Amino acid sequence: MTVDFSSLQAKAEAVKSRDIKSLFDDARATDFSQKLESDGGDLLFDYSKTNIDTETFELLLSMAEDANLKGRINAMFTGEKINETEGRAVLHTALRNLDASPVMVDGADVMPDVLDTLARMEAFANDVRSGAYQGQGGKITDVVNIGIGGSDLGPVMGTIALSPYHDGPRVHYVSNVDGAHIADTLALLDPTTTLVIVASKTFTTIETMTNAETAREWMGAVVTDPGAQFAALSSAEDKTAAFGIDASRVFGFEDWVGGRYSMWGPIGLPVMLAIGPENFRAFLAGGQAMDQHFRTADFGANLPVLLALVGIWHNQGCGYATRAVLPYEQRLLRLPAYLQQLEMESNGKSVAMDGTALEVNSGPVVWGEPGTNGQHAFYQLIHQGTRVIPCEFMVGVEGQEAHLAHHHRLLVSNCLAQSEALMLGRSFETAMELMAAKGLSGDEQIRQANHRVFSGNRPSTTLVYPKLTPFVLGQIIALYEHRVFVEGVLLGLNSFDQWGVELGKELAVALEPIVAGEEPADGKDGSTRALVRFLQTGS
Ligand code: F6P
Repeated sequence: MTVDFSSLQAKAEAVKSRDIKSLFDDARATDFSQKLESDGGDLLFDYSKTNIDTETFELLLSMAEDANLKGRINAMFTGEKINETEGRAVLHTALRNLDASPVMVDGADVMPDVLDTLARMEAFANDVRSGAYQGQGGKITDVVNIGIGGSDLGPVMGTIALSPYHDGPRVHYVSNVDGAHIADTLALLDPTTTLVIVASKTFTTIETMTNAETAREWMGAVVTDPGAQFAALSSAEDKTAAFGIDASRVFGFEDWVGGRYSMWGPIGLPVMLAIGPENFRAFLAGGQAMDQHFRTADFGANLPVLLALVGIWHNQGCGYATRAVLPYEQRLLRLPAYLQQLEMESNGKSVAMDGTALEVNSGPVVWGEPGTNGQHAFYQLIHQGTRVIPCEFMVGVEGQEAHLAHHHRLLVSNCLAQSEALMLGRSFETAMELMAAKGLSGDEQIRQANHRVFSGNRPSTTLVYPKLTPFVLGQIIALYEHRVFVEGVLLGLNSFDQWGVELGKELAVALEPIVAGEEPADGKDGSTRALVRFLQTGS
């Protein structure tokens, strides 16, 4: 059931010309922010620089109640088949349930298998890292993870995010079927000391299987038994065996782990190889801590719920079609790409759970780039473009480079400056004064001043975390996962299927023989026929 957003839209209309800064009294920064205390350091989510007032907040909370959010959260954590279009439970949370409390699916506890697989991953990771497991040329120096979508984006993002914790082999990622990706990656490596991981839940994804075969040929040219230097992360044991990967190096997971939610289990193996099992457990513990908070905190003090309600306000209430994720943390370079899959593959639907047309906007377009780089690229439009883009800033209290504290101070100052500028803007009067100080007057002063006006009143939130440790990364990723779930519940859709990716896959398979010139393009539309012809002939 989709929540009725008409009262939210009416409220947004009523306050749209109100200045966010006019909402500030002594209490707002505290009342419209939420701390989450934790042994790993506190998180702070500040949403005071939005146009949400107490009445809107209450309205949003009542919508969460109307959507039976509490019931849906319980249903997810207790293994109900909430992914109704695929008849599956949704239990990525079980992968980080380190205290092993039972999680039941179809009457059976899934935790013994989850922990057994985790133990096998840890044993393998320890063997690779110590050199007990070797390639033909000796200790493994490099790992190539071949996967795409959820079998790539989470591990890539996590590997970069946690680079200060790397003490294992170098880890590389190949995802694109463009041969450039695998060619450039393998060109740097010695096949005799490389481990190739084929990460694919289904083991049928064409990009991954094409790259895996290319990698096997590359290795087979030098290594006598290439299969011995391959591992697989997959649910499809028959297919991994057919590919020639020994079952001892196959790490499986169940259908209740969606691709984009899978980095907590076997799909996280490359991250574990890089940072070690202990740090990987700290990452899981961070996710588990966020689960605990999500399940127990009142909605008004519940971080994932708050992020979701702010998102619903901006998307459904105010009609803002996109949101920018702006981490002031270079190592979160791939977080926006990761969140694009997490959010847009989950909530980019136009059919409600009951099969009827969704009568509201689907989830927003998510995009972004780390600050401060983005400031010198697209922030111009965020500040002065005609459309409002809610911005989600993120920044750590501490950087990893203690000896570069002055860099971190500048980073933090820039982050705060952006949200301040977005809210406060710069008036025409101030711009006129600036131009007068430059010696301008008359029409030229007005003309130049107009270009220097910032409307302000542009909303943003800021998530502050202590330091980007494995634990904190786990908290942040679980926070966003649950945020997506809550938004999906309020929109009344299934966040856990992805039928929208199927049609393009089918057409690509059908087009390959046409592109190869083996079949005629007759049945295709005029544009596609012309494009095929040009691609085949270059004219
Ligand atoms: O193309 C969509 C998708 O199914 C994603 O949901 C998934 O993460 C990705 O492809 C990769 O799938 P697999 O792990 O089965 O190769």
